[in-house]
Amino acid sequence: MDGPSLIRELKKSVTCTVTDDETTLESYGTDWTSEYIPNPLAIVFPESIDDIREIIIFANKQNIPLVPSGGRTGLSGGAVASSSELVVSLDRMNKIIDFNETDRLLTVEAGVTTQEIQDFASEHNLYYPIDLSSKGSSQIGGNIATNAGGLHVIRYGLTRNWIKGLRLVTGNADILDLNRGLTKNATGYDLKDLFIGSEGTLGIICEATVELTEKPKDSLILLLSVSDISVSGEILKSFRNSFVLNAFEFFTDSAVKHIDTISKTKFPIKNSYYLLIDIECTTEDELLKVESLYNDFNNRAIISDGVISQNAKQYKELWSFRENITESISVYLTYKNDISVKPSQIPLFIKDIETILTRDYPDFDTILFGHIGDGNIHISILKPHEFDKAEFLNICKEVNNHIYRTVASYGGSISAEHGVGMIKRPYLMYTRTSKEIELMKDIKSVFDKNNILNPGKIFPS
Ligand code: FAD
Ligand code: MLT
Ligand code: ZN
Repeated sequence: MDGPSLIRELKKSVTCTVTDDETTLESYGTDWTSEYIPNPLAIVFPESIDDIREIIIFANKQNIPLVPSGGRTGLSGGAVASSSELVVSLDRMNKIIDFNETDRLLTVEAGVTTQEIQDFASEHNLYYPIDLSSKGSSQIGGNIATNAGGLHVIRYGLTRNWIKGLRLVTGNADILDLNRGLTKNATGYDLKDLFIGSEGTLGIICEATVELTEKPKDSLILLLSVSDISVSGEILKSFRNSFVLNAFEFFTDSAVKHIDTISKTKFPIKNSYYLLIDIECTTEDELLKVESLYNDFNNRAIISDGVISQNAKQYKELWSFRENITESISVYLTYKNDISVKPSQIPLFIKDIETILTRDYPDFDTILFGHIGDGNIHISILKPHEFDKAEFLNICKEVNNHIYRTVASYGGSISAEHGVGMIKRPYLMYTRTSKEIELMKDIKSVFDKNNILNPGKIFPS
């Protein structure tokens, strides 16, 4: 059946809205990546789990590939529809369903944004700890499908740690209600956990029950400048042994000229690398301990300069320097890597990565930044305006192999938190064995026997 007749058939078979106007196809057929040309068949906007089940039954019958789509902030092409897939947008499934203060459990539809969950928690004097600068648009369904990490993983872990229940429809159109909010449930394999991080390839998440926690106590930030990143290991150890650490981030000086283009305040210090350390600090004694640690690092010339936030306003300002990085460089076409090793390996690992980047990308503006407290580095290479897109991407993909060989030599991962999607597919074997990939494909065939859910994602062709 050709496209128009499929759409006619679809409109007859499902109750929810079906759209195929150019503008909607263009915007709903992609995510934050810019490598692929969006080319979806149509976009459907289900409003209930039954709507989703109807769409999946139709897709199995007509053998139409589906792309589940959340906030479309993904950075690995997981929500891209470039081969006439039907995009299933969760935008209209955005209701808060239930909240139980005793259990600290909030049940929401998949299309509720990360920000809305954080706001709801805060209004009830609680805290949802997964924080990423895309939170205004990213949806909890997408966060679960990518097992999103963010800025506070070092203290609170990843999205996976906060999901206590899922209601979803598998690729075989089975409705599953998994774990139902239980803290303890030792009754066989944890199927809920299988769907977390599955990038829309096993099922479409319709509802999530998330756990909330108490708000962090009063915190402060140290923004430190260092000339040699290898000191970050000692600084991490000292702060981790003395305080509750909320975040331990880093970025290279090459980020600052971009951050300054969108930040309200001028970046205050200068050197090759910056560490942003967020700690709980509630007593006079703790404040004295912060200052003595700072002075010790300063006197030993481990750090060259630094700022300690004095109030809530400055705390937010210092965070904004780190949070603004991705947005500030989005005016360029950027080629991104999102790699991880164990935190203790970071100092040596960064040096190895920098050797590759300087050797192979001498003329490119390259920014290194990310969550080094949990071993995660982001590399953003900015396409020079005069460079042809295809040529730029070819050079970046060429260098990938050097970067991933180094990642593999550390036993690290080629995708720390953004998922594999389409962009990292060709490199999966640097991190996963052929046996693991075979077993993952077997698992997919159990839940999606006709391979209609996000085919062409995760698995190398
Ligand atoms: P989408 O991009 O819409 O989709 C992502 C994947 O999930 C796709 O494979 C899609 O098919 C699938 N999917 C979406 N909804 C569902 C559903 N209901 N059921 C099943 N599958 C579904 N990520 C981090 O981990 N940490 C960060 O710090 C971080 N910072 C970011 C900062 C910026 C400025 C941007 C643009 C992105 C950032 N990201 C970060 C990446 C992105 O925000 C996350 O991957 C996020 O979880 C994606 O959510 P989304 O709703 O936008 O998903
Ligand atoms: C971040 O930590 O800011 C994100 O993961 C975004 C990115 O890698 O660009
Ligand atoms: Zn990140």
